[in-house]
Amino acid sequence: MSYNFDRVIDRKGSGCFKYDALKMLFGRDDLYSLWVADMDFAVSPQIQAALAQRTEHPVFGYNLRLDRYYEAAIYWAAHRYNWDICREWIISCPGIVPAINLAVLTFTHPGDGIIIQSPVYGPFHHAVMGHGRKLLDNRLIELDGHYRIDFDDLERKASQAKMLILCNPHNPVGRVFTEEELRAIGEICMRYNVLIFSDEIHADLVYSEYRHVPISSLDNFSEITITGFSPAKSFNVAGLSTSVIVAPEKKLFEQLNSFNEKLHLFTGNSFGIKALEAAYLESEAWLEALVKYLEENRDFVYRYFREQMPEIRINNPEGTYLAWLDFSALGMNAEALNDLLVNKAKLALDPGMKYGDYPVFQRLNFACARSILRDALDSLFNSIKQG
Ligand SMILES: Cc1ncc(COP(=O)(O)O)c(C=O)c1O
Repeated sequence: MSYNFDRVIDRKGSGCFKYDALKMLFGRDDLYSLWVADMDFAVSPQIQAALAQRTEHPVFGYNLRLDRYYEAAIYWAAHRYNWDICREWIISCPGIVPAINLAVLTFTHPGDGIIIQSPVYGPFHHAVMGHGRKLLDNRLIELDGHYRIDFDDLERKASQAKMLILCNPHNPVGRVFTEEELRAIGEICMRYNVLIFSDEIHADLVYSEYRHVPISSLDNFSEITITGFSPAKSFNVAGLSTSVIVAPEKKLFEQLNSFNEKLHLFTGNSFGIKALEAAYLESEAWLEALVKYLEENRDFVYRYFREQMPEIRINNPEGTYLAWLDFSALGMNAEALNDLLVNKAKLALDPGMKYGDYPVFQRLNFACARSILRDALDSLFNSIKQG
């Protein structure tokens, strides 16, 4: 079966953040929308059919996840990641960000140190600072667009920390951490008794030479690790608020699950449950085709910047549909850069300040039809040329 990722779908007016919030946040809505991390592609035919079938039953009361739901999540972890998990370890939560916040509140106290690795997804910063915890930033080190972990700094910070929020694959730098790197992280965290929350929401979106490894599947790191994964990014169902949180260690599970239950976050979304089952049990061929298309988009974007706009430095993502762009060579401040992007090039990107102290960086989402991507990059190229 072939899937048409070139099809341009008009999302305006569907109540989606990526297009319908443009005016509110960027001041205009005639922009190429390459910001929020969702995709402009239709979901798999199998997901669409499962949702249509669910609407045929006209009652949408509280949910109970049936065996098929757990079988789907367990199958996916084993089949895709060689990671054996069981039902007793699974906590159901609407999203991974809520789960990270729950973990921060459950396992740390105000003033406790929590490590993140910036530049990194904004809600990680808020999950630490927003609850009065101390942010310990183990900044990634960049060399020619490739980012790596500063392990000496990680070790120093781990000695003062209670928790590490790990992003693997990493948003926005696109790293898919190797087994060797994950082992080094895990060993440091074991040594200092640091709890790991591993956010693996981008795990399915990994390109040819790379392989996603859940840190919890290595050595005995499952004793100190809580993992979050979901079909939200890879199957484009973020609006259905359904994620899988895995806590193999009994005490960690009980504490986190109890808080999740008190807040009634486990009740779930009738459509999200069906979508997860259809994604993991029926849509793998669609995912493979998607990743191939995204990889071509990645190569297209990378080449375009390298060849046409080498002054803008770009990473080469190993996973995710996100590119991390460094505009510093243009010599503009954040305000001038924003004016160039929004008012001249008509581009909505995600400003680097969302990811830490990166005023002249921007994150570009390349999960859209290639024709849109080409037009958007041409528009940026022309705007820069015109000064
Ligand atoms: C690394 C990462 N974690 C979590 C999320 C959002 O997860 P959820 O919608 O499940 O809270 C995103 C969305 O962009 C993300 O990039």
